[in-house]
Amino acid sequence: MSILKIARMGHPVLLAKAAPVPDPSAPEIRRLIADMAETLLDAGGVGLAAPQVHVPLRVFIWRQAEGMVALVNPVLTALGPETEAAWEGCLSIPGLRGEVPRWRRLHFAGLDADGRAVEGEAEGIAARIMQHETDHLDGILYTMRMADLGRFGFNEELARAAAPAQNPA
Ligand code: NI
Repeated sequence: MSILKIARMGHPVLLAKAAPVPDPSAPEIRRLIADMAETLLDAGGVGLAAPQVHVPLRVFIWRQAEGMVALVNPVLTALGPETEAAWEGCLSIPGLRGEVPRWRRLHFAGLDADGRAVEGEAEGIAARIMQHETDHLDGILYTMRMADLGRFGFNEELARAAAPAQNPA
């Protein structure tokens, strides 16, 4: 396994639409997911999408209490009209965070790291992370979803202003 270099905002890979993974069980995809997991742990984030490590494929990982989870070729669908705004960070936009409106509840479907079909419902932080990561697969950064650019700033300044911390994704 190896720690991969994370692309930062301004790199074109972060604005491109990623391609579906043709064979999730292929050895190179397993290796990619393992390397992404090591990279995410090293960086101290909660989520990481393949385009963030310069690989334009539709796969992301995130950390749950139970461990690291991968979702390949994800499809998200809103459950209901409710949205909620909360602070987000991004490993590709280091040192900053901003408040982003997201669907509160969603249905997700895709494939796991073994190529098996998975689906379910998520809400709150889990739903937020999945939306943040799926946006990366479509070339969208959280800053492009913000409703109020006044609620965007450097972590250190916002900490003094008592905005809640959020691990980057
Ligand atoms: Ni991100």
